[in-house]
Amino acid sequence: MKLFEAIKKRKSIRKFEAMKIPRKDLEKIVGAASLAPSAMNQQPWRFVVIEDVSKKKQIRQSYENCRKALGAYKQDTEFVENGVLFAVFMEKEKLKPEFSTALAVENLLLAATALGYGSIVMTAPVSHKPSNELICELCNKPAGLELVALVVVGKAGEAPERKERSGLKKTLFWEEF
Ligand SMILES: Cc1cc2nc3c(=O)[nH]c(=O)nc-3n(C[C@H](O)[C@H](O)[C@H](O)COP(=O)(O)O)c2cc1C
Repeated sequence: MKLFEAIKKRKSIRKFEAMKIPRKDLEKIVGAASLAPSAMNQQPWRFVVIEDVSKKKQIRQSYENCRKALGAYKQDTEFVENGVLFAVFMEKEKLKPEFSTALAVENLLLAATALGYGSIVMTAPVSHKPSNELICELCNKPAGLELVALVVVGKAGEAPERKERSGLKKTLFWEEF
């Protein structure tokens, strides 16, 4: 798939068909994430792949609690269990680790798209203390790392409309605002 096609095709998917993703695809996806630029090439990102059914159930439940606690709109959270989860961490003592890790996450999403998978990145579970702690515990997080995002990748079970974007009129400026 061509780059611009993948960029256009990527949309947040919140419905997945339960299936396993071959390990070689998971490695290819994280390999692409690891090619992202990073401040001083410090590569602060770490990715934990979570496929275990019981772990995914616990994370789904805590995500559901998290959405309630945040007062977010109601979601069918089954997608959390049906996909493969990537818990994304950063080494917090590195330079601009969140920025670099976010760039790696975008690579991850585009690589997943190019391989024909749907995906979504979520940070609500990062902001919700009980979900954050659960994910860190399930991943046996070592000291010095911090959770940045939870990404779900899987076989898309929906084809949502493109969410509207602001357009260049609002976002692009030549020389000055
Ligand atoms: C930093 C970040 C955090 C997000 N967190 C969540 C989340 O917790 N739950 C969720 O359903 N979607 C989450 N999303 C997905 C956004 O809602 C989605 O990207 C946005 O609505 C644009 O839609 P699109 O991805 O289909 O283009 C997040 C996206 C980003 C970039």
